[in-house]
Amino acid sequence: MSIIEKAASKLEQRTPVISAPETTVPDLVQEPSTVLAEGAQSPLLPSGNPFPEVSAEQKAAETGTASFAKIDLERLRHANIVTPTGEYSLTAEEFRMIKRPLINNAFSGERKLKNSNLIMVTSALPGDGKSFCALNLAISIAMEMDRTVLLVDADVSKPSQLKLLGIQAELGLLDLIQNPELPLSEVLIKTSIANFTLLPAGKPTRNATELLASEAMAHLLDDLAGRYPDRLILFDSPPLLVTTESSVLSTHMGQVVMVVDAASTTQPALKSALTLVQHCGYVGLIINRASHQLSLGTYGYGYGYGYGYGQQA
Ligand SMILES: Nc1ncnc2c1ncn2[C@@H]1O[C@H](COP(=O)(O)OP(=O)(O)OP(=O)(O)O)[C@@H](O)[C@H]1O
Ligand SMILES: [Mg+2]
Repeated sequence: MSIIEKAASKLEQRTPVISAPETTVPDLVQEPSTVLAEGAQSPLLPSGNPFPEVSAEQKAAETGTASFAKIDLERLRHANIVTPTGEYSLTAEEFRMIKRPLINNAFSGERKLKNSNLIMVTSALPGDGKSFCALNLAISIAMEMDRTVLLVDADVSKPSQLKLLGIQAELGLLDLIQNPELPLSEVLIKTSIANFTLLPAGKPTRNATELLASEAMAHLLDDLAGRYPDRLILFDSPPLLVTTESSVLSTHMGQVVMVVDAASTTQPALKSALTLVQHCGYVGLIINRASHQLSLGTYGYGYGYGYGYGQQA
């Protein structure tokens, strides 16, 4: 039994672990499209269609100042990302189960967690699948009829959500932290995926990582948590063992999702990473690329998840 399997089976004693068969995913080839700047507000759900895309007409009728981006769903499918069409896919099934305890903890948990609607997606080291899992989770939660999701690209030195979604934008989190006068609505990007909004990382600066661990960031987080108590806010975050800002960030989070790469995360790395977030009220694990470890032992596209959720001891 490998070390990751051992770590997973330890968690399994407390909670279920699921896995999915492997699949292959072609590389992304499309160039990003441009964000359409202008006014927008939360799209209203038309009755009848559970997962509607926001039409150009709806968008035109919207008011406010946020940007709006049309998301190319085919691009998402190619990257093995859940799409809001309701069609069956193993990825969609996996994230349907993964999101459930997070939603329950946020809105109807027995234990009241502080900032329970703030969820950090992180991992021990780079490349474990944080951004992939954060986006899948965000879209999967947005597909719930009564849930809205804000995905924050908080991996400011290595942002990837704009690229994954195939859109472009300049302003983002870093600009908000540096300029408290900047209205949030000018930085958010509403998308054609109903209930799904993105806050990009923002203009790169030399002290980006320090800003992430700053007081200004702490205020912004409290503001976000309080201003949108009905909204789940997911943070695609830097790896815990490479720099310190991610563990500082975790002190403001109600819940943490730790992504474990079944093919590469070692048990000591996982243990160290878990230690850094042990103060959090709730820590969940996603074992990513589980079937790679079990069947192929190779690295590349394809997926398989196992996950176990349990409170950090
Ligand atoms: N289960 C999966 N199935 C298919 N592709 C995956 C899977 N997990 C990760 N990937 C792909 O592997 C690559 C690395 O994943 P990702 O960028 O999400 O990792 P990360 O932890 O965010 O990395 P970094 O620390 O550099 O930000 C990406 O191209 C991502 O789309
Ligand atoms: Mg990433």
